[in-house]
Amino acid sequence: MGTSHRKPFVGGNWKMNTNAESATALIGAVSDRLRASGAETAVYVPFVYLREVDTVIKQSGSAVRLGAQDFSEKPDGAMTGCISLSMLRDCGVTSVLTGHSERRHIIGETDALVNAKTRAALDAGMQVVLCIGEQLDEREAGQTDAVNERQLRAGLDGVSKEQLGMVVIAYEPVWAIGTGKTATPDDAQDAHAKIRGVLAAMYDQDAATQMRILYGGSMKPGNAGELLAMADIDGGLIGGASLNADDFGAIVDATGV
Ligand code: PGA
Repeated sequence: MGTSHRKPFVGGNWKMNTNAESATALIGAVSDRLRASGAETAVYVPFVYLREVDTVIKQSGSAVRLGAQDFSEKPDGAMTGCISLSMLRDCGVTSVLTGHSERRHIIGETDALVNAKTRAALDAGMQVVLCIGEQLDEREAGQTDAVNERQLRAGLDGVSKEQLGMVVIAYEPVWAIGTGKTATPDDAQDAHAKIRGVLAAMYDQDAATQMRILYGGSMKPGNAGELLAMADIDGGLIGGASLNADDFGAIVDATGV
C-alpha cells in the first residue's frame, strides 16, 4: 500500500450495468461487505438508479460514497439528455468520474471538455476522480508518460492547490480496461511515480505527496494485493469486479485498512 498517511480509496464503476432490482441488491451486499473497512469507498451508479441506491446506502448507515459516471459541465438550460451537477446533488451524489477512457475514446470527450467538467464539479463541491491513461498504440510507441502528463496537465488546468484536496487521480491504461490484461505492478508503479512527479511540478511536493493515485484496469481479487503493495498505488477504480460484492469487498480488503 502507498504511504500510510494517504487513506486508500476504492471506487466501483458499474458502467452501463445492473437494473433496478440488481442495483439495489448489489449496493445492499456491498454496504454489508464493507462495513468494517477503513478505506474510503464509492460506487459510480447509472443515473436512473442513483435514488434507489442512495436510499439503501442511507438505510444501511453505510459509509460508501454515492458517485455518478458523468454529468454536464453546464449548470442548466437547453442540453437535451444531459444531467447537471445540482441534479446529482439532489440524488445524494458526492463524487463523480471525469476523463474515463470510455468517455474519451468512445464518446469523444476532449481534454478541454474533461477539464471543464473537472472544474465545474470541483466548483460544485464534488469529489472528482480524474481518469487518465494511454492506449495500446501509445504504449507501444513509448508515449505512456507523455500521454499521462498531457491528460493530467490539461485535466487539472485552472484547478487550485486548495481544490486539489477534492481530487483523486485514476491511472487506467486503456488496453487493460475490461480486457483481463493488467499492467505489471512494476509498470503501474513506474507510471504512478511519474504522475506524482508531474503533480509535484504542477503544484508542489506536499500536494503530490497527499494525492491518492488509483490503478484501474482489470483489477481483481487475485491481482489487487500485488498492485496495492506498490508504494505509489493508493487504491483502485474497479469495473467488472465491482459488480460482485464479494470480489469488490476482497479488493477493498487488499488495501489492508
Ligand atoms: P475494469 O474497468 O476493472 O472492468 O477493467 C476499470 C474501469 O474502467 O474503471
